[in-house]
Amino acid sequence: MSKLGIDILLHEQRLAHLPLAPSPGATCATHLERAGTLSCAWSGPPTREALLTWLSNILPENGREAAWRERSQRRLENHGGDPFLLGPAHLIWGNSDAEYPGALSFASCGQDGAPLPPFAGPPELLAVDDEQIGNMLLQAIMEVRRSGPRRLATGPVNAVSLSGVRPKIGLALIKGQWLAPMGGHTSTHIVKVEDDQNVLPGEALLESVCQRALSYAGLPAADTRARIFGNVQAVVSKRSDRAADPKTGRIVRLHQEEWAQAACVRPSDKYDTLAERPHWGDLAELLHTRASDPTRETTALLRLLVAAVLLGHCDLHRKNIGLLHTDEGIVLAPAYDVSSIAGVKGFSGRLAVGVMGQNDHVRVHWGHWRRLAAQCGLPLEQADAAVLSVAKALPDALSEAWRASSSEDEARADVRQAGERRLNETSRRLKARIHTLLAHKDAPELRDRSAANSPSTAVDCDKKR
Ligand SMILES: Nc1ncnc2c1ncn2[C@@H]1O[C@H](COP(=O)(O)OP(=O)(O)OP(=O)(O)O)[C@@H](O)[C@H]1O
Ligand SMILES: [Mg+2]
Repeated sequence: MSKLGIDILLHEQRLAHLPLAPSPGATCATHLERAGTLSCAWSGPPTREALLTWLSNILPENGREAAWRERSQRRLENHGGDPFLLGPAHLIWGNSDAEYPGALSFASCGQDGAPLPPFAGPPELLAVDDEQIGNMLLQAIMEVRRSGPRRLATGPVNAVSLSGVRPKIGLALIKGQWLAPMGGHTSTHIVKVEDDQNVLPGEALLESVCQRALSYAGLPAADTRARIFGNVQAVVSKRSDRAADPKTGRIVRLHQEEWAQAACVRPSDKYDTLAERPHWGDLAELLHTRASDPTRETTALLRLLVAAVLLGHCDLHRKNIGLLHTDEGIVLAPAYDVSSIAGVKGFSGRLAVGVMGQNDHVRVHWGHWRRLAAQCGLPLEQADAAVLSVAKALPDALSEAWRASSSEDEARADVRQAGERRLNETSRRLKARIHTLLAHKDAPELRDRSAANSPSTAVDCDKKR
C-alpha cells in the first residue's frame, strides 16, 4: 500500500497531511484537522472528498494538464506510486515544485511519510526579455494544444498553477525587469495569450479597457494591460494575491480562492448550464457570514454584477470571482478577466451565472437588481443607489479607459482594428442598455423567460474555448 502523500502548507505553515491513498478505516479528519482555514467553504475540517474538489480548482484547466500528468506519472513511478491513479492530489504530489494560487504551497512526501527532497532546483527568478517571454507563451500554446514537445525537464521548471482556458504563464515584475519564477518562486503577474484560437480578435484590448473602465467607475479591478511579447499578443494582469511587503519590499502571498472553491463545487460546475447552484444569493450569504463588512462586500458584488451585465461581460462564472482572505475576514478580490461580447458574432449573450434566474443579459432589468438586492439583505434605497451609480459612471469611464489605452496598450496591427470595432460596439450597446434600464426603472416586472427554456448552451458563454 502506497504511503505517499502531500503536506499542505498555508503561508509556509504545515496545515495538514493528505495521503494519496487513505488507509482503510483511517478517518480523514485526523489528517485534515487544520485544513479548514484554507477556505470559507468549511468552518471545521473538510472531508477528503471536499478537499479534493477544492484542490481540483487550483490545477490547470486546459490541455496543459497533460504535461502535469506526465510529470506526475514519471515521478510516481520513480517513488513506487501508482502512475495510473491520477486525481488532484496525485497531480499536486508530482508538481509540488510549482507555484500555487493564494498563500498555498505543498511538499511531496515519500513512502515513509516524510517530505522528499524537492523535485526541482531551489526557487529562483530568471531575468527574461520580451522575446523569451514570447517563446514561453508559444510553449504554453503548444502545451494547451498538446501539439508540441512538453516541458518535462528534470531541472528548474517555470510551473505556475493557474486555472482558466487560455494559455498563460506567471511572471514577476521587479523594478521594471521581467523575471521567470522557477522551482515555485512567487510571480506577481499573470500573462495570458490573447486568443490562441482566433475567435476573439482584439480580446487583449477589450480586457484591458474593460478592466480600466471598472476601476475608473470606482470598482476594484486588477491592473490589466495589453502587451506584445515577441510577436505574441498577450494580456498582463497584476495578481491580487501577491503584494510587496511595505517594510522589506519582498513579494508576499495573500491567500485567495475562487468562488467555486468557496462553494466547494468542481471546476466543470462554473456555468449555470451544468450547475444551478450556487447562485449570487448564495455568494452574498457567504459574504454575510465571512466578511468583516458584509454590507460593503455585498454592495461591491451588486455593483460588479451590474457593470458586467451592462458591458456585455457574460463570462462572469464561478471561477471568475475571487475571494481574498484578510485578517479581518474575506473581501471580494479585485475583478479580473472582464471583457465584453458586444460585436462578436456567434455569442448569444447568455450569462454564465444568471441574475435571479435570468440568463439573457439584455433582459436583466431593474426589477432583477432589486430582487437580488433583497436576497442579499441590502435595503432598497441602497441597492437603487448602487445600480444608479454604476449606470451613471460607466459610459464616461469606458471612454476614459479607451483614451488611456491608446497611449499605453500594445495591440498588434492585425488585431487592433478588430479590438477597436468591438470597443465601439461595446460603448454603443452600453449606452443603449443604460437608457433602457433607466427608462424602465419603475415599470412593472416583465415575466422572465425561464433559464431552462433558453436555447443557449455552455458554448455560448464559454467564450475562450
Ligand atoms: N489579477 C489576478 N489576481 C489573482 N488571481 C488572478 C488574477 N487574474 C486571474 N487570476 C486567477 O487565475 C485564474 C485564470 O485567470 P483568467 O480567468 O484571467 O484566465 P482565462 O483563461 O481567461 O479564464 P476563463 O477560462 O474564465 O476564460 C482565475 O480564475 C483566477 O483564479
Ligand atoms: Mg477566467
